[in-house]
Amino acid sequence: MRHATIIGTGSYAPDNTMTNEDLTKLVDTNDEWIITRTGIKERRIATGELTSDLAYEAAVRAIQNAGLTAAEIDLIICATITPDSFMPSVACIVQDRLKAMKAAAFDLTAACTGMIYGMVTAAQFIETGMYQNILVIGAETLSKILNWEDRSTCVLFGDGAGAVVVSSTEKESGMLSSNLLSDGSKQALLSCPAVPLNNPFTKAETTNFAPSITMQGQEVFKFAVRSITENVKAVLKKANHTVEDIKYIIPHQANLRIIEQAAKFLDVPVDKFYLNLEHYGNTSAASIGIALDELVQNKQIQHGDKLILVGFGGGMTSGAVLLEWD
Ligand code: UT7
Repeated sequence: MRHATIIGTGSYAPDNTMTNEDLTKLVDTNDEWIITRTGIKERRIATGELTSDLAYEAAVRAIQNAGLTAAEIDLIICATITPDSFMPSVACIVQDRLKAMKAAAFDLTAACTGMIYGMVTAAQFIETGMYQNILVIGAETLSKILNWEDRSTCVLFGDGAGAVVVSSTEKESGMLSSNLLSDGSKQALLSCPAVPLNNPFTKAETTNFAPSITMQGQEVFKFAVRSITENVKAVLKKANHTVEDIKYIIPHQANLRIIEQAAKFLDVPVDKFYLNLEHYGNTSAASIGIALDELVQNKQIQHGDKLILVGFGGGMTSGAVLLEWD
């Protein structure tokens, strides 16, 4: 039986750091409010790089850390809600820049759960024997879909990219269980429109259309806490593990208070959750990959460690994977 396992990680974020203090020049906010309500101190904001640029840099690092060349990648999946264009996909742009000549490539949309959906999708191709090495990227330039006059959203998000190489192993390790959920009935909680219908049969009224994220913060907060709890319990049950078997839970990095509440519901110490949101803010599909790469680069994960990656976000979507690190 083939199993899907992560053999390399990489991440990248723009150099430009925007602090909470910087935000006070744009909207009526302050450092204390942002830190106490979210835990975020700063975020990276692109000054010219596109989502595909961030995705490419994270991909190069992940492939190098996996000890592979781009020519050995069979498939590229890029999770993003902020692609450079409707077409080509970010995955195809990255495929070209990497010269990953044999790779198929497509983008996937599951908002902040994108990395989890991407990994689980990759695992299916591997377990069926279709592919050996799959590059999964989560990449976002959320700064281009923020309303920089709306203090309730613009302080929360940042730009960045994370990537993993998922490969086939005969060992009973790697991805031990997974869980994916969606609830489209809650779509209005967190959304960002695409271009409106505009053709000879419609009367388009919007000329200066600029899509931006809108959010019902408190409802998303409750959804997030419930989703983390439900998905963590589900992957533990499916793998016949208990939370004590898990070294780190790596959540989508949205808000420290969400994680504190989820830790309480799961009855685990909050430091079992790995957090770096204070430096990146919420980078949507990129956040889990960036956090995982940070743990790997800091050598905080050893062979045999068990991890849960868990995400939640627009759609609404949520999901988790339980991994044994090779
Ligand atoms: O990937 C998933 C993405 N989304 C999330 O994770 C968001 C989940 N939700 C949250 O994290 C929280 O709901 C927020 C951090 C967004 C907001 O925190 P909250 O404790 O739910 O605050 P609130 O919306 O109830 O607002 C409290 C007050 C309001 O003022 P009044 O009406 O009490 O006078 C807001 O206008 O805080 C005000 N406020 C701000 N004040 C200073 C809202 N945003 C800001 C701000 N700075 N940036």
